[in-house]
Amino acid sequence: MNENAGPYEHLIIFDTTLRDGEQSPGASMNLAEKLEVARALADLGVDVIEAGFPIASPGDFEAVQAIARQVHGPTICGLARCNNADIDRAWEALRDAPKPRIHVFLATSAIHREFKLHMAKEEILRRAVEGVTRAKSYCDNVEFSPEDASRTELDFLVEVVEKAIEAGATTINIPDTVGYAVPDQYGAIFAHLRKHVRGIDKVVLSAHCHDDLGMAVANSLAAVVSGARQVECTINGLGERAGNCALEEVIMAVRTRGDFFQLATNITTRKLHHTSRLVAHVTGIQVQRNKAVVGQNAFAHEAGIHQDGMLKERSTYEIMNPEDVGLPKTELVLGKHSGRHALRERVLELGYHLDEQQLQKVFENFKVLADRKKTIYDADVEALAEAVMASGPALWTLEAVTCNAGSGTIPSAAVCIWHKDGTIVREASLGDGPVDAVFKAIERVTGIEVELRDFRVRSVSVGEDAQGEAHIEAFYNGRSVTGRAISTDIIEASALAFVQVINRIAMRKAQSRLHPQTEKEVPASTVV
Ligand code: KIV
Ligand code: ZN
Repeated sequence: MNENAGPYEHLIIFDTTLRDGEQSPGASMNLAEKLEVARALADLGVDVIEAGFPIASPGDFEAVQAIARQVHGPTICGLARCNNADIDRAWEALRDAPKPRIHVFLATSAIHREFKLHMAKEEILRRAVEGVTRAKSYCDNVEFSPEDASRTELDFLVEVVEKAIEAGATTINIPDTVGYAVPDQYGAIFAHLRKHVRGIDKVVLSAHCHDDLGMAVANSLAAVVSGARQVECTINGLGERAGNCALEEVIMAVRTRGDFFQLATNITTRKLHHTSRLVAHVTGIQVQRNKAVVGQNAFAHEAGIHQDGMLKERSTYEIMNPEDVGLPKTELVLGKHSGRHALRERVLELGYHLDEQQLQKVFENFKVLADRKKTIYDADVEALAEAVMASGPALWTLEAVTCNAGSGTIPSAAVCIWHKDGTIVREASLGDGPVDAVFKAIERVTGIEVELRDFRVRSVSVGEDAQGEAHIEAFYNGRSVTGRAISTDIIEASALAFVQVINRIAMRKAQSRLHPQTEKEVPASTVV
């Protein structure tokens, strides 16, 4: 549904959460999670999903291919450098998509030419043309990005863009790769290209901004004012370093200030909150409380004078309605006696697509929770649905965990864990604290030792009996693995999340034995 329908021109929303967003440290997602996010993006109404960088790893290839085959509605895009191997691999992943796009990129700034690529301008021009031509031989819809465009000499940028258009590019993206631009200057680049590039009217101009100086959204909007008609963005502003332009902020700016921008998008804004939550959940990267549009405090009014104004007339202090971004009210939704049907309806209303088996599991967990906890909120149901989505076939299953801690005692823990072959293993350990003792006991059972990088517990709803969600990021063999779990007992949630990390490592080890190339990746320094 086009919520901004009207006489306005269309602004294309290109989401790169699954590509640039996934390049965020610790944000890696597995195949099932990527599919879930892609489906949520399609539901949200984005026009283009950049699903990954197929040559980067077999996992990336598989995800782009699965999304191309299964997620319909948006155009599905895959990234490639300007070389044959990258472009061929991207096409192999995308070829089954009803609406495919190949996105080729090549750095153009002097600093990248000299120090990274060791190429003269002539070679850059030649390779850009070859890359676009090859992509075009597979697919009509080709996007070209001169990487680090905002630091490229304007004359040379004009030349590269003109050649890329002649070779068949249909979208020209102008990345502010290192977040260096400021709005007036970035907007002026678009105005310059529109004035000086032959054939510019045949293509869509696109903005792609990073947030190193906190200006990604402002820069993108400046480009829009100067004629860009595609914005590349990510949910929650996820992305390399300080992140990319936040989709939810651009959307609400364009909508709230429709009087100024006079543009329409296909985004159903009521789904923004759900999509933001889903991405935060699968990546384990929580949104800061005061984040614009989707932060917990975005619509909270604390000062008495503001509250008074709000009660008299909402628009005194609120420029957007919380309902318009889909902010759920904290309310009691279900109780101990609610049936399977009511739960299924609620899960669907909250935006989760679960199969029968998963729904059954959510229902069973809901009953257990209802016995432990008086009131069940939307946030609890969301957490139950997300926990079921996150759980895959497991090698190890936690049966029981106990621990002993307190001042004057040495913290200790005991765990009891099933192996999938039917054996049960018990172990105990001392630790620096109860959680450390639990993790050490689990490592003893499974024989897998990890380096813990991050451990967080947060409450998923309200009240003293609220469920706690544990999130863990660990390193194993130089790669990051995440796990998360919920329980009303935070020690149990922590143990479950840690077992999930161990299971993911075990699965990865088994897969890499079958496919030795699985662990091989393109050096990350080649993409920004
Ligand atoms: O930031 C950047 O330059 C990129 C390109 C690959 C488009 O992400
Ligand atoms: Zn980028």
